[in-house]
Amino acid sequence: MFTREFQCTTVLAILAFGLGAAFAQTPNLGEPIDEVDIAAWDIDILPDGTGLPPGNGTAAQGEPIYAQKCAVCHGVNGEGGISLALAGGEPLTNGIDTSKTIGNFWPYASTIFDYTRRAMPWLQPRTLTDDEVYALTAYLLAMHDIIDEDEVMNAETLAEVQMPNRDGFIPRFPERMP
Ligand code: HEC
Repeated sequence: MFTREFQCTTVLAILAFGLGAAFAQTPNLGEPIDEVDIAAWDIDILPDGTGLPPGNGTAAQGEPIYAQKCAVCHGVNGEGGISLALAGGEPLTNGIDTSKTIGNFWPYASTIFDYTRRAMPWLQPRTLTDDEVYALTAYLLAMHDIIDEDEVMNAETLAEVQMPNRDGFIPRFPERMP
């Protein structure tokens, strides 16, 4: 004769076995992803520059690339056009409606590299080489006199650039900030 306890244990065992069997029956879709495939997507760059790739560029090198690939939307001098301004910007203390740019808003220079590499030019994202992105980043920084025209931007120097609005944010996780 079964005790109540034995019955419960049996029911649980059957349930557990049943669930295990259910999970084992996957639809068998897809295939394991390898390191090379992951690397192609793993391109995020952290505020402290972690993730910046090898390569380099200067503002002087970036100027003709900007003229050819960016000016049509962002204006010859970054003043904006059919797309938003990248340069200039009034002090943010002027009020909530002040337009926000790299110069008056962005706290970390590494974000310019990350954003440009993954998203620009708007209609051909991921077509720029890393050297071109370093050069464009340098050009946008020099436009704001944050760096000199001939200063070389690479993984080390870009991470060290201090943006004007660096201390204008209250980070939710200060311990994660560089
Ligand atoms: C076809 C038009 C077009 C071209 C060409 C283009 N952009 Fe953009 N860009 C945009 C648009 C639209 C946005 C806003 C995207 C959004 O908010 O989702 C943008 C946003 C940006 C931003 C972010 C600005 C901010 O403050 O949020 C940067 C930086 C930028 N572009 C850089 C570049 C660079 C560098 C090039 C040249 C390699 C370039 N763009 C070429 C249309 C363009």
